[in-house]
Amino acid sequence: MESLIAEEYESLRESVRALATKKIAPFAHEVDEQARFPQEAADALKAAGLFAAHVPAEFGGDGADALATVIIIEEVARVCGSSSLIPAVNKLGSVPLLIAGTTDQKKKYLPLLVKGQGFSYCLSESAAGSDAAAMTTKAVKDGDSWVITGSKKWISNAGESEFYTVLASTDPSKGSKGITAFIVEKSDTGVSFGAHEKKMGFRGSPTREVYFDSVHINDDRRLGEVGSGFALAMQTLDHTRITIAAQALGIAQGAFEVATAYAHERQQFGKPIFDFQGVQFMLADMAMGIAAARALTYQAAVKSERGEKDLTFFSAASKCFATDMAMKVTTDAVQVLGGYGYVSDFPVERMMRDAKLTQIYEGTNQVQRVVMARHLDDL
Ligand code: CAA
Repeated sequence: MESLIAEEYESLRESVRALATKKIAPFAHEVDEQARFPQEAADALKAAGLFAAHVPAEFGGDGADALATVIIIEEVARVCGSSSLIPAVNKLGSVPLLIAGTTDQKKKYLPLLVKGQGFSYCLSESAAGSDAAAMTTKAVKDGDSWVITGSKKWISNAGESEFYTVLASTDPSKGSKGITAFIVEKSDTGVSFGAHEKKMGFRGSPTREVYFDSVHINDDRRLGEVGSGFALAMQTLDHTRITIAAQALGIAQGAFEVATAYAHERQQFGKPIFDFQGVQFMLADMAMGIAAARALTYQAAVKSERGEKDLTFFSAASKCFATDMAMKVTTDAVQVLGGYGYVSDFPVERMMRDAKLTQIYEGTNQVQRVVMARHLDDL
């Protein structure tokens, strides 16, 4: 695959890998152990223009295309899953603005995002996870403004981000066709955050509830037409589920490298454990899975960039395939390291815990299969 993509992407990979190795990897263990935000990573990404590299150049960003963004996220995830959620969430939060925002809205928010004011995405609720359209957070029109009331759950980087794309029901009688998207700011009166969730993995990335207590915002915060929010939310996920595939790819690559190095060093029965065919087969399977997931993920990224009609299928397929692969690869990496894999002296147990979430968020892998099955005719 490496030779199939243009040289510019490979030099981007080299530079992000160097940055991640030097400025993000040294803190990955501590960030996980202390369940603290990876501020060092956020600072390094900002300084390198990688905090939200996907933002078009006209709004101050790097204009990284979908494949470049995948490579950035993949390389950060190779050393620290939590840190890779910074560029991933910033893309997720701001794609609705990029798709449906007015020029004024883009001019107002995108340069601030590039400078380091994060952008989160508020779709899920306590009783509306896979069934996202069942949301009950409401936005009621009041003259020229809207009043938002309700709460959102499992919001990545909640509290750290300054801006939030919020999906709210503006006409409950219309179900998914009665949902509208808005931009809410952290400083808006009535916005508050719940306790940090105590998670199995991705422990450095804050996950909190976001509460909206009669939050008044002007109509100029509305994204797109009234009632178009659910379609916009789904269209957004078509572009961003690929970034979760990228995370999974990076996590798996990191675990594979640790397992391979260990297998060459670790001596048992008088020789490196790499010399045993049982271990060789595991490493070969890992490499094969990673290569296949990388091909599918990069293909999906190209489809995202070109807006091809089978994007919905490929986005879901890449997310599902890469994250299932990452779960298997990280579990096998722990197995290769044996007792050393099960303790936190080596990063593979963290990678295994992180991989699990990638099978769950941005739509469970069961939802991805529903999405794929509904889009078979697009192929
Ligand atoms: N593009 C554009 N419009 C779309 C669309 C798409 N991909 N998918 C659906 N729509 C629109 C259509 O207009 C559709 O109406 P029509 O029937 O007229 O075409 C309308 O939305 C309703 O679509 P569905 O009937 O498919 O809706 P549904 O209620 O059956 O739900 C679902 C489908 C796929 C299960 C969806 O609810 C879903 O994706 N659920 C999972 C939610 C999810 O992924 N949450 C992730 C939260 S974000 C997160 O996790 C991020 C993080 O922390 C990092």
